[in-house]
Amino acid sequence: MSPSSTPKFKNPRAKYNFQGRTCSIAGVGAYVPERILTNADLEKMVNTTDEWITSRTGIKERHIAAKDEFTSDLATKAALLAMKRAGVTPEQIDLIVVATITPDMPFPSTACLVQRKIGAFRAAAFDLEAACSGFIYGLEVAQQFIMSRTYDTVLVIGAEKLSSIVDWEDRNTCVLFGDGAGAAVLQNRPGAHGLLTAVMGADGRKSDLLFMAAGGSRSPATAESVSSRMHYLKMEGKETFKNAVQAMVTAASEALRRCELDISRIKCIIPHQANRRIIDAVGDRLGAKPEQLFANLHKFGNTSAASVAIALDEAVTTGRVQAGDLILLVVFGAGLTWGAAVIEW
Ligand code: ACO
Repeated sequence: MSPSSTPKFKNPRAKYNFQGRTCSIAGVGAYVPERILTNADLEKMVNTTDEWITSRTGIKERHIAAKDEFTSDLATKAALLAMKRAGVTPEQIDLIVVATITPDMPFPSTACLVQRKIGAFRAAAFDLEAACSGFIYGLEVAQQFIMSRTYDTVLVIGAEKLSSIVDWEDRNTCVLFGDGAGAAVLQNRPGAHGLLTAVMGADGRKSDLLFMAAGGSRSPATAESVSSRMHYLKMEGKETFKNAVQAMVTAASEALRRCELDISRIKCIIPHQANRRIIDAVGDRLGAKPEQLFANLHKFGNTSAASVAIALDEAVTTGRVQAGDLILLVVFGAGLTWGAAVIEW
């Protein structure tokens, strides 16, 4: 067999008998708010330096939503762009999944608010909470509905207004996060490829590494919960770091194994954009070359569920990813949760 006739990859779906169905990524979109908060700005707010933030995380600036701009607004802008690029009308959408840890309100779901804003009134809608791993969890949910022939067109959005839960007096966390949204339209498109596999994982025994204590049924809002700053995100940075590297390597390896792919076949690896040192460590342990890794966290910080969705949009729109390329997405977040996905573009 000549090299050109060698199959590029083994389609893991084949063994599940999904004949005739594909979960193609028909269009992607992203949106970040206008206002930029630089490391120099943060130097005036907490005891930190541009040098510390840059060398420990790789982040230079992040975008911050306006007071009257909410997660559903960011999500809507990203979604409309993804729909336009996919050539999909609101009426065609069967399901809207919004991955977020910063919904506009505890209920109704942000997905319902997005449904209203984009006018997709035929669609079912729900939120999915898997912290920074939410977008890949969303892709897997979409894939299951599409492959089972329940739906043809699913809109998956990762959207966050993390600035609303960040403690702007805590230098350990406030330098890390930003606001934004990314979206993808997934569709059964005969003849196209798209999502080949998605891996999801979780370990609730480590839920105390990264959490927001109040605002739920355990600690509803009280004057005391507010004064003791329980409505802000808290993180054990060092332990989270170690777990992130390990979980992302495991998830990525499993996704590659399922597709019978070597890392060298991947054109672009898009990891969760939390910390440049995590990205490099994951790439290193996977045996990837530095040029395979995609990073844009210097511009956006960690946008949690929106992170890999925003990065995927940039990789596609800047031509870093071309038709036929294989992409590996890999994520990690609170829960703990993690995931990886292989896509043929
Ligand atoms: N500026 C200056 N000094 C700081 C700052 C800051 N912004 N933040 C912390 N420091 C200090 C600490 O106080 C500490 O000082 P000490 O030694 O005197 O106590 C020192 O810097 C080192 O702190 P560490 O926490 O040990 O720093 P580390 O190298 O671990 O980096 C970081 C911290 C960037 C948070 C890193 O641990 C990290 O990225 N963790 C993982 C985050 C992550 O992956 N999150 C993903 C999930 S997010 C989600 O799901 C929403």
